[in-house]
Formats: sequence, structure tokens, C-alpha cells
Amino acid sequence: MSVVIPVSADWLTLREEADAASRSRSLARRASHLVHAPVTVHDLGSGTGAMMRWLAPRLPSPQTWVLHDWNAALLAHAAAAPPGSVAAVLTRVGHLETLRAEDLAGASLVVTSALLDVLSAEEVEAIVAACVGVGAPALFALTVDGDVALDPVDPGDRVFAAAFNDHQRRSAEDRRLLGPDAVAVAAGLFRAAGWSVRTDSSPWRLGDREPALVAEWLEGWVSAAVEERPALTEWAGEYLRTRRAQVLTGRLRVVVHHRDLLAWPS
Ligand SMILES: C[S@@+](CC[C@H](N)C(=O)[O-])C[C@H]1O[C@@H](n2cnc3c(N)ncnc32)[C@H](O)[C@@H]1O
Repeated sequence: MSVVIPVSADWLTLREEADAASRSRSLARRASHLVHAPVTVHDLGSGTGAMMRWLAPRLPSPQTWVLHDWNAALLAHAAAAPPGSVAAVLTRVGHLETLRAEDLAGASLVVTSALLDVLSAEEVEAIVAACVGVGAPALFALTVDGDVALDPVDPGDRVFAAAFNDHQRRSAEDRRLLGPDAVAVAAGLFRAAGWSVRTDSSPWRLGDREPALVAEWLEGWVSAAVEERPALTEWAGEYLRTRRAQVLTGRLRVVVHHRDLLAWPS
């Protein structure tokens, strides 16, 4: 059983607006045509419920949302204030690596957001098998694809990006995380089951209107790169000084590329 890696409610709140602006509206529209009222949505790795707040107004009502996460505190936060179109919110505390089709019984749609890239191949296999087992379409939003573009360009960008991507694919507690390979792996598994798959890009486009998010993302990105390659420590200090000054003066723009995936039985 893997160790719980904490994600803070503050971080999820900080990124919620950028996530909402980035998720693929066209895939959400397609997903909404695949379900019929009353709708039961299972949100895996729901955190504080940002996906529910974004997607619920785009789906037919009435809706029941079943939120799954291994962090009970985040689930309590999510269940406290559901959006108006949601009739009921149920919560399930648990590890996704043990997810089975029975856990998704009655699902009209299974969703994730900002989750797949922190999972292992075994966890993604379990999730896809559960979706296929229950026959519910899957909308998996905001998986990083490994591409990041910073403006102005710095020679460190490619170096820190490569180290960050290796960190995302690291082995942790006997699990090999998929990082930027997660969408390709999930798409391959759905296709192997005979399902149709569509993907769409869903980039974060950040600039001077989101200085706190840019700053927080930058610190996390560089510190993961250094954890992966400690030899980068000195360069990272210098790189961060330059980048922090650019954030303060509103001169740094960042595009963090993601992909969304929709899969449904053909
Ligand atoms: C980056 S957060 C995204 C939260 C939310 N979906 C959103 O878009 O704001 C990832 C969430 O997945 C949960 N999580 C990560 N790995 C998990 C696992 N193996 N089992 C259960 N929950 C997991 C974390 O606790 C966290 O709430």
C-alpha cells in the first residue's frame, strides 16, 4: 500500500481558477451528451471538489457526485458547499490502487482532474479496468504532458524541465509513477478494451494576472527538479533569483501544457 502524499487545500484553491480556464470545454460538452438524467458522477482524487464545481453546471440535472480521495480533510471541504445543480454529495476515503468496478456501481460518468500524472501504471490500470467494468464514460482532465514554455527564455528552462519530468516518472514506494506518460497509457488501455478515445490540449497560460500561482508553481517545479538532480542546487538558486524578480515585475509568462482525455464504450 502506498504512502499518502499530502496536497494542501490552499494549493488547490490557488490553482482552481487556472484549472477552470484550461480544461477542455469541447470534451466536457461531448461528455454531457453521453449521460442522461439522473446523473451519478464519480470524481477520483477529487481533492476539495474543483472538478465538481466546474463540471456540474455543464451536465444534466439532477446529479449525485461521489467523491473519492485518500485525504478525508479535503473530502470534508468538498462536501461542505456543493454547487446548486448537485442534489447529493457522497464521499469515499480510500486508495485508488484498490479501486474496483463495484466501487463505481451506478456511475454515469467517471472523472478526474490533475490526478493521472501522480499515479502509477498499476493505479491507472485499476481505474481504467473499473471504468470499463462498469461501462461508464471517463473524462480525465489536466494531465501534464511534460511541455513547459517560459517567456523570457532562459538556458536553464530545458534543464529544469527535463529533471522535473524525470522526477514525475520516479519510483516511489515500489510504484513507478507515470508523470507525462499517463494520458498515452490510459488512452492505450481504453483502446485495447475497444473504447473510443478523444484527447484535447488544456494548457495553463499564466502571466502577470496570477503572480501567486506562477510563484508557487515555479518553486515546486524547481524544487522537484533539484530533488531529482541534486547537482542542480547551485544553478537552481541563481535561476530562481532571476525568475522571482520577473514574477515580481509581472514579466514572466508560463505555459504549462496538459491534456484532457474522454473515453467511452464504442
Ligand atoms: C493535484 S490534486 C487534484 C485535486 C482535484 N481533482 C482538483 O482538480 O483540484 C490530486 C488529488 O488526488 C488525491 N490522490 C492522489 N493520489 C491518490 C491515490 N493514489 N488514491 C487516492 N487519492 C489520491 C490527492 O489527495 C489530491 O486530492
